Amino acid sequence: MARDAGRARLASGRAYEDHSRMRFLITGAAGFIGSHLCRGLVAEGHDVVGVDDLSEGSLENLAASPEVRFERVDICDASSLGEVARGCQTILHHAARKSVQRSIEDPSAFDRVNVRGTLTVLEIAREVGASVVFASSSSIFGDQDRYPLTEDMEPRPRSPYAATKLAGEAYCRSWWESLGVPTISLRYFNVYGPGQDPSSPYAAVIPRFVMACLGGDRPVIYGDGLQARDFTYVDDIVEANLLASAMPDRARGRVLNAGAGRVPTTVADLLSTIASLTETSPDPVHRPAREGDIRRSEADISLARDLIGYAPKVAIEEGLRRTIAWFRERSAS
Ligand SMILES: NC(=O)c1ccc[n+]([C@@H]2O[C@H](COP(=O)([O-])OP(=O)(O)OC[C@H]3O[C@@H](n4cnc5c(N)ncnc54)[C@H](O)[C@@H]3O)[C@@H](O)[C@H]2O)c1
Repeated sequence: MARDAGRARLASGRAYEDHSRMRFLITGAAGFIGSHLCRGLVAEGHDVVGVDDLSEGSLENLAASPEVRFERVDICDASSLGEVARGCQTILHHAARKSVQRSIEDPSAFDRVNVRGTLTVLEIAREVGASVVFASSSSIFGDQDRYPLTEDMEPRPRSPYAATKLAGEAYCRSWWESLGVPTISLRYFNVYGPGQDPSSPYAAVIPRFVMACLGGDRPVIYGDGLQARDFTYVDDIVEANLLASAMPDRARGRVLNAGAGRVPTTVADLLSTIASLTETSPDPVHRPAREGDIRRSEADISLARDLIGYAPKVAIEEGLRRTIAWFRERSAS
């Protein structure tokens, strides 16, 4: 563990900046990405406070990180959030409602947490003098005419969820421009990895496919299966957060794509790869395409590379191998 190392280093061994031990607040800490961030930051020697209202996340996700101080807090509760944020230099803001389909059914609930909640986080950051890394989403691009997607394209949100993330980005930018709170918004592109929840009908495609293949069930493909995604392994996202939290001057207030930056994978190809890695022959069920789903996502990550040094490392096959190994182990225990 790097706790006593004089200089903070990323998992890759690359130094990111000389702030050897910092205190981070992670919102959404008991969720999929939040819990990976907790582990990653503790391993880098930082102090971590995690908050979550446990509406989606679970304390089980934090079982491997006893060093994290966890507080059950709703991010919309400014006074409780303010109390736990005291002394933190950086907030990695990941708490959100995130199902595209549910956002169509109940947009107000998404507005409350994703927009109002982000505003609350920014206000607290201003109060305690922290910077903010905001978890945004590639869904704000909607369907575009050109690929790969660059940050300067006109956003075309196709769902209330995407609209709330766009509003969050705008708040982050304006908090830097007008109030001097350093912020960076990272637009994530279909993050996957160990610990992602496979259970709800709204679950992401990779855990659903892996569980179906391992359990001998029929995986469900929505639409024709030719929709393509830039699947990004969660460790690369942890690294993007570490790099962004150094808040290089040129990146402040900016929005940066954080995808894998490779040729995107279609959902049909994804299933074939998972089938081959699990040595199964699934017979998929086809259902109509879901409302709000975009056709293609493919990140141009050159801005993130130039401004924060982001360089994702885990290729899709390797990421799937690790993810499948985790699900296998979990089913065996
Ligand atoms: N997973 C992806 O592919 C992906 C892609 C783009 C963006 N994102 C963004 O990354 C972030 C993390 O996503 P995830 O996949 O880990 O989702 P997740 O649902 O596993 O984690 C979100 C966490 O936020 C918590 N939460 C929800 N409302 C809250 C509230 N009011 N107060 C406190 N906690 C609350 C939930 O309990 C959950 O633990 C989200 O902001 C999401 O929009 C994720």
